[in-house]
Parts: sequence; C-alpha cells; structure tokens
Amino acid sequence: MIGLEDQVVVVTGGGSGIGLATLERLVAAGARVAAWDVARTDGFDELATAHPDQVHFAEVDVRSSVAIGAALEAVHDRFGPVTGLVAAAGVAGGGPAHGVPEEEWQRVIDINLTGTFLCAKAVLADMVEARRGSIVTIASVEGLEGAEGGSAYNASKAGVVNFTRNLAIDYGRLGIRANAICPGFIETPMFDAVLGSGGMAEVRGKIEAQHKLGRFGRPSEVAAAITFLLSDESSFVSGVALPVDGGYTAGHSLGLVEMMGLV
Ligand SMILES: NC(=O)c1ccc[n+]([C@@H]2O[C@H](COP(=O)([O-])OP(=O)(O)OC[C@H]3O[C@@H](n4cnc5c(N)ncnc54)[C@H](O)[C@@H]3O)[C@@H](O)[C@H]2O)c1
Repeated sequence: MIGLEDQVVVVTGGGSGIGLATLERLVAAGARVAAWDVARTDGFDELATAHPDQVHFAEVDVRSSVAIGAALEAVHDRFGPVTGLVAAAGVAGGGPAHGVPEEEWQRVIDINLTGTFLCAKAVLADMVEARRGSIVTIASVEGLEGAEGGSAYNASKAGVVNFTRNLAIDYGRLGIRANAICPGFIETPMFDAVLGSGGMAEVRGKIEAQHKLGRFGRPSEVAAAITFLLSDESSFVSGVALPVDGGYTAGHSLGLVEMMGLV
C-alpha cells in the first residue's frame, strides 16, 4: 500500500470522474488533498464529509490565474506547501476543423492546455523551494495519435504531453518529476456526455473494440497510475507519457488472431 501521509496534493477537476477517483485513492493513502473545480458532484461531497481533515475544496476556473492564486493561499493556510499536482480539469470539444467556431477552439485550448500550464506554474514555486514535487498531467490517447473529429481536443492534449515533457526537463535537477497520463476511454460523466446517447451505440462499440482488453476503463484504474506517479514508488520516472488505455495505442487489431483460432 502506497503511503502519502506527508503529501499535499492539488487535484484540478477533482469534483468528478477521474479527478474524484484520484482524490479517493489519495485520501486512503493518507494525503491531504485540495480539489480545484468549477463544480462538485455528490460523490465529492460524500468524500469531503467523511474526511473533513484531509479534503479541501475551492471553486476555481483553471483559466483564471487570480482564482488559482487565491486557492493556493487557502491550501497553504490549511495544509502547507504543495508537494503534488494532478491536472485533471478538462473538457471535450472540437469536430472537423472547418466547422469549429473560433471561440470553441479557444475554450478547449484555454481549459485543457493553458489551465494545465497556469496550475503547474502556481504550484511550482512550492516545489522549487522544497526541491521536491511530482506533477501528473492528464492528457489522453488522443494526445499521442490522431482521432477522427478530434481537432481542438487532440491539439490541446498533444500540447499537454509535450508541456509535461518540458517540465520534466526544466525541473528535474531540482528534484521535481513530471509525467503525463494518457487514458483511453474511461467511463466518467465526460464519457457519458460524448458517447452516452443511443445514437452513438454503433460508434461506441467500435471504440470499445479498439481497447485490446475488450472494454472501457474505470476511473479507479487511472487513479491507481496517478497515485503511483505521485508517490516515491516512481522516484526515477519522469518525462513519461503513460497510456492507461487497455492497449488502445498498442497497434491495430484486424481480426487475424481470431482467423488463426487463437482467441
Ligand atoms: N473519460 C475519458 O474517456 C477520458 C479519456 C482521456 C482523457 N480524459 C481526461 O481526463 C480528465 C478528467 O476527465 P473526466 O473523464 O473525469 O471528465 P469529468 O467531466 O467527469 O471531469 C472533468 C472535471 O473538470 C472540471 N472542469 C471543467 N472545466 C473546468 C474549468 N474551466 N476549471 C476547473 N475545472 C473544470 C469539471 O467540472 C469536472 O469536474 C480530462 O482532462 C479529460 O480530458 C478523459
């Protein structure tokens, strides 16, 4: 069992989905956690009520450096300097490029990419001072390869992957690690919003089949990898873009093994 009793971790997007599953795991490992989000689900409220000494919430839009600064001060007052960041706040969005309104492109880039930058920038001061820290960004398999109709989302997530590599390069000598997690399709409220409607059933089946394990992922499975990267168990891991994707990015599955009678 990973112990994180000496850690203070900010989780953006902690009100829901992958961020919330991460908070649950971090709290169980003994960390003190601050969720920065524009919304919170009942699941978050239950966690915060059950662990009032370990869980803090601040309403933060990650596009606002002013809101981030105020929230960071509150974390310092309650828990002390930040040792870990999980940048999970994000939105879906895009479409084939010729039909994407400029404002929509900008919204997705601002939240997914610039928001990640602003939060990392804010917490790095604590980490540089302590010569210690772990930053985990949440990119996507769609930040590693193209995906039909992805445009703004894919561009933002590819940006997150390379921004994270740069953090690893720039701050490694100061004892600060940075890694990107690239989830496959994970069953969260975002997933439901994009793929949940009846009209998406066929596409949903095709996407599921791209995961070589033959199923979508669970938020807790992404949270497990995030927790590993925050902990000293990954003390020599930095600059990695880690797919947590059930084999989605392993390569193409064309039905040959079925033809050969292997599965
Ligand atoms: N679910 C998937 O299949 C999947 C796959 C790959 C990557 N991801 C990424 O994982 C991360 C978490 O997504 P999720 O699936 O848990 O979705 P989710 O919608 O359940 O959670 C996203 C959270 O981000 C918050 N958020 C949105 N805009 C914000 C803003 N401006 N400021 C602060 N918070 C904001 C939302 O309120 C929400 O709580 C996202 O970055 C997403 O792109 C998800």
